Amino acid sequence: MAVTVTELTPTTGVEITGLSGSRLVDKAVAEECRAALDRRGVVVYREAHLDDADLVAFSRLLGRVVPLPMGGHPTHPEIQRITRDPSKSPLAAYREGTFHWHIDGTTDEVPNMTTLLTARQISADGDGDTEFANTFAAYEALPAEEQRELDGLRVVHSFAASQLLVTPDPSPGERAAWDRNPAREQPLVWTRPGGRRSLLIGATAGEVAGRPTDEGRALLNRLLEWATQPRFTLRHRWRQGDLVLWDNTGMLHRALPYGKASARLMHRTSLAGVEAVA
Ligand code: OGA
Ligand code: MN
Repeated sequence: MAVTVTELTPTTGVEITGLSGSRLVDKAVAEECRAALDRRGVVVYREAHLDDADLVAFSRLLGRVVPLPMGGHPTHPEIQRITRDPSKSPLAAYREGTFHWHIDGTTDEVPNMTTLLTARQISADGDGDTEFANTFAAYEALPAEEQRELDGLRVVHSFAASQLLVTPDPSPGERAAWDRNPAREQPLVWTRPGGRRSLLIGATAGEVAGRPTDEGRALLNRLLEWATQPRFTLRHRWRQGDLVLWDNTGMLHRALPYGKASARLMHRTSLAGVEAVA
């Protein structure tokens, strides 16, 4: 089948058709994928239908695969099952957290570089799309004066901040469980060695260090609203077998809500980051 490559929005996303199964597990394909991720943030392989072994093999060609705790997969510790069905994942109860814009691993010193998600089973009702917002593009489009105002600001990221969006009134037990995940302060603007910059914001961003809580929250809310305008976003409508990868260091993402009883099942792998936020 002929391979087609289509850019999806002016700033974000590439869709590739005509590549599936073990044809993806190829050095040259992985190199092109990496380049497309750097340039466009999100890469979609339509109906790629990778089996679990090929998902892991393709991931390994792209970077260092990190084992995901409590992945729920019976035979592949590298794969995490993303679902609301508690019989398939011990983390099912936390999935509502992904309905809010976020970046994975912001409380890690070195956040994951790339996330890969492949659709094993899509929702019957057409819900559960995934949206992305390009924070490289969002930062670049800020007026220079506002960019300067963000210089040097630091943000406290925590699992608790993201869970508060789902459960605003936690019991002391819930709160204590969240707080077992240590918070981490990170720069608000992430500057890469090559000079590119992105915003490290989203659900885990609780407050701006050294600012009154309300003032910090207002700034974080304003930046999130700015970055998730339609002009910086991309919506992926899943088909069974799709493989979607994103540059987790600059792409906010969220799942559009899907129900507790939804059949939606994604298999995910993650690639280790190569640089701390700076
Ligand atoms: C995740 C995530 C989005 C989705 O697994 O970290 O954000 O659409 N998933 O399931
Ligand atoms: Mn995520």
